[in-house]
Amino acid sequence: MNLQIIRDNLLSASSASELINFIQTNRNEIESYFVSLTDEQIEEDKFDLQSVCLDFINSAIYQQNKSNPDFIEIVTLFAELFEKIGFYGAIAIIRTNLPKDSSIRHRLNAVYLYTRIGSNNEYVEKFSEILEALDKAQNFAEVDYTGQVIQDTINYYLLGKKAFEDAKQNELLVDFKALFNSPQSKQKFKFLNHPTFKQYLDGYITEKIFVELIAEKVYVPSAITQQIFQDLIIDRINTSGYLQKYSNDEIRADILNYGRADFTEAYKDLTPYDRVQLYCYFNMRKHFFTTYAVYEKVFKTLNSNVFQKNKELVFIDFGCGPLTSGLALASLYYDNENEPISIRYIGIDIAESMLEKAKEFSETELFSPNSEFNFYSNWDLVPDSVVAEITQNDSFVIFNASYLFASSSLDEISLASFVNKITSYLTKKAYFVFQNPDRADRNEKYKKFKKYVSHQIETSNTQRIYYKNNSNSTFEPSSEVVNYEILSL
Ligand SMILES: C[S@@+](CC[C@H](N)C(=O)[O-])C[C@H]1O[C@@H](n2cnc3c(N)ncnc32)[C@H](O)[C@@H]1O
Repeated sequence: MNLQIIRDNLLSASSASELINFIQTNRNEIESYFVSLTDEQIEEDKFDLQSVCLDFINSAIYQQNKSNPDFIEIVTLFAELFEKIGFYGAIAIIRTNLPKDSSIRHRLNAVYLYTRIGSNNEYVEKFSEILEALDKAQNFAEVDYTGQVIQDTINYYLLGKKAFEDAKQNELLVDFKALFNSPQSKQKFKFLNHPTFKQYLDGYITEKIFVELIAEKVYVPSAITQQIFQDLIIDRINTSGYLQKYSNDEIRADILNYGRADFTEAYKDLTPYDRVQLYCYFNMRKHFFTTYAVYEKVFKTLNSNVFQKNKELVFIDFGCGPLTSGLALASLYYDNENEPISIRYIGIDIAESMLEKAKEFSETELFSPNSEFNFYSNWDLVPDSVVAEITQNDSFVIFNASYLFASSSLDEISLASFVNKITSYLTKKAYFVFQNPDRADRNEKYKKFKKYVSHQIETSNTQRIYYKNNSNSTFEPSSEVVNYEILSL
C-alpha cells in the first residue's frame, strides 16, 4: 500500500459503495501504511498527505456520507499522522470534520488549544478546558486510548513548563504544576493519577522520551483468539453489570490502578476475581498484543525455530496474570502453524484470582491436549519433582516476565536465585524475555535482577505497538509503548 494507491481510490471512486469496498478489503494494508510511517517520512510528505486528506474531506462522497465509520477511520488515520508531528494547520481543519464523540476529535481539540496559546498566562487559564477535552478522549470502555491521552497531557505540561522556565516565571510555573497535582484535579481528571504522568510531575523524567520504533502493522486477534476474548472476557463483562455500576474512570484508575492493582484484595463489592475480569477487559488485551509482537521478534532474533516439535517447550511465566503471555505465544504459534501449541507452562502469580482466570484460558482450543499447566503463587513453591521434569535434556526453557517488574511486592533477588537454580540444571541455553512500559523507575528492579543472573543481552528495544481488540472495529487503533529485552542465560 502507498499514498498513490490511497489517493487514487479515495479521490476517484465512482460511488460510496465502491470506496467502502476498497477500504474494507484493504483495511489491514491501509492501517499498516499509516502506522508504519516514521516522523521523518510524515514531515517530508506532509503537504501531499494534507492535500489528499482535505480533498477527500471536501469530496461529494465524503460530504454525503460523513457518518460512515470506514470514511471516518480514514480521516482519523490522517489526523493521527498530523497530531504526531504537530502539523497544526491540518489539525485545525480536520478536527471539525470528525464525529463529535470520537477520541481523536477530543484529543485534537486539546492539541489545538494548547498549541495556539498566545501568552504564558493562558497555560494556566486554559487548564480546565484542555483537561476536559482529554478526559473525554479517554472515556471509552471498549478501546483504551489512555496511552495517547497521557502523551498529550505530557506534551501540554512540558510545553507550559518550558514557556515558564524560558520566561523565568518561577511563581507561575509553581502554580501551573500545582494545577496538575491538586487533589481536586486528580479527583476530577482521574488520568492525572496515571503512574507515567506522575513521573513527569515528580520531575523523575524531564523530557519527552518517546523515542521508539514503530511496528509495521496494526495487530488484531485472529478469528479463534477473538472468539476466546468474546467468550471469556466480553460476554462475562456484559453479563456482570460492572460497566453499569462503575464509570470507566473509576475502573481504570481506582479498581485497576492502570493494571497495577493488588488482585488479592476486594474493592467495594467487587471480589478479587471480579477485578480480574475487569483487568481482562481493560488491560489484558493490550499486553496480549505487545507480547505477541515481542515474541515475533524473539523468534526472529534467536533465528531458530523454537517451535521444534521434538523438544519440550517449557514456558515459565512470572507474574503470569490471567495467562496473557501464554495466550499470546499460543496465538502466534497457531497463526504460524495452524494447529494448537503443545507446551509445558508454569504460571506463577501472587494472586489466586489471577490463577483462577489463567486456568480458564488454559482450557481453550489454542492449547493442544498434550499441553500441561502448573500454577503456583510463588516460585519457591515449585516442587523439586517439577523442577526435575522441566530441566530434562531436551527442554527448551523460556522465562517470561511481562509487566511484573513494576510490582512493589516483587523480590527480584529471590526471583534471580530461582532462575539460577533452573539454569544450573540445564545443559542448553535458556532465554529470559522481559517487557515493561518504557518508564525508568519501573525498570530499576529489573536492572538489579540482571546483576544477579549471568546473561548476555540478545536484543533490547522500545517499540510502539498499534492494535485493535476486535478485528472488525472501525475505532482508530490504540497504541502502547513497550520496552523489551531478550537475555540468553
Ligand atoms: C500488570 S500484571 C501483568 C500480568 C500479565 N503478565 C500480563 O502481562 O497481563 C502483574 C501481575 O503480577 C502479579 N504479581 C505482582 N507481584 C508479584 C509477585 N511478587 N510474585 C508473583 N506475582 C506477582 C500480579 O498479581 C499481577 O497478576
